[in-house]
Amino acid sequence: MAKISTIGVLTSGGDAPGMNAAIRAVTRAAIYNGWKVKGIYRGWEGLINNEIKDFTSESVSGTINRGGTILRTARSKGFMDEAGRAKAYENMRAHGIDALIVIGGNGSLAGAQAIAAEHDIPCVGLPGTIDNDLYGTDTTIGYDTALNTIMECVDKIRDTASSHERLFIVEVMGRDAGFLALNGTIATGAEACVLPEIDPEFERINQFIANGLRRTKSSSIVLFAEGREKDYNIMEVADGMRQRFPELDVRVSILGYLQRGGSPTANDRILASRLGVASIDALLEGQRNVMIGLRNNELVYVPFTKAIKDDKPIDRDTVRAQEILAS
Ligand code: F6P
Repeated sequence: MAKISTIGVLTSGGDAPGMNAAIRAVTRAAIYNGWKVKGIYRGWEGLINNEIKDFTSESVSGTINRGGTILRTARSKGFMDEAGRAKAYENMRAHGIDALIVIGGNGSLAGAQAIAAEHDIPCVGLPGTIDNDLYGTDTTIGYDTALNTIMECVDKIRDTASSHERLFIVEVMGRDAGFLALNGTIATGAEACVLPEIDPEFERINQFIANGLRRTKSSSIVLFAEGREKDYNIMEVADGMRQRFPELDVRVSILGYLQRGGSPTANDRILASRLGVASIDALLEGQRNVMIGLRNNELVYVPFTKAIKDDKPIDRDTVRAQEILAS
């Protein structure tokens, strides 16, 4: 194995709160071990365009509490082509980078897997996405913050929903996964949720709403995972509810990008810091093509192939708990 003396770090795909804490941990742990650090701006796109700067310990000062990513991010089309990846590799070598830490979601780690397959560059990934949809880790950097944001927003929607005696269908992010929707439902005491992983039984959902109304006689909230939009248009679902509950005024609220912003929670800062330090340890151990995950509070190495391709199952006990609590 070639000796490592300089690493590059980049963030790619959708930004997630805690990415800065991860960049900080990677930078400081690498410097601690005597390595140089290069910050690569705008993800894979920036690597192709040679947007690379020297990073020192000070480069990451005062960033642990900041949302977004100081390295910026992008979804790169150029990196989908072998030619783009070859250019990226050429730039990396010109800067003396001999290993790469990639912070991002599915697409970002797929990029790392692709460049590592074509060129001799050890890559280690950190799971950075609000969606929590990477296999092999209990949670991802940004998920806890997004979940807390959803909780705060839905609590606020509850105030207006109960004042006006309305039914709200609130769409949350998560791509093809329902973790934000399911756990957001439990955390807010919403009456029901529509998840991508489970075929929605609208009759059952109506039952939960009717039960909720019987108890509170004021409002109802359904969390709707964006991943279900492929099969059910949220506006049509709202029309169906209008017919079923004519006594209620039905409104739709799409939370959107605010779910990606904000200062990371303590959990996300700590997770990102631990995973960041572990990514440098992994390189020191000679690991490559692995994502660092956390399972049952233990750091684990998950091969890229598994992290990207395997579906992360939604926890059936949690689904059951949600249904029992709403019934
Ligand atoms: O993967 C994070 C995420 O926020 C998803 O929840 C959402 O579907 C997607 O990114 C939105 O992507 P974009 O920023 O490209 O619109």
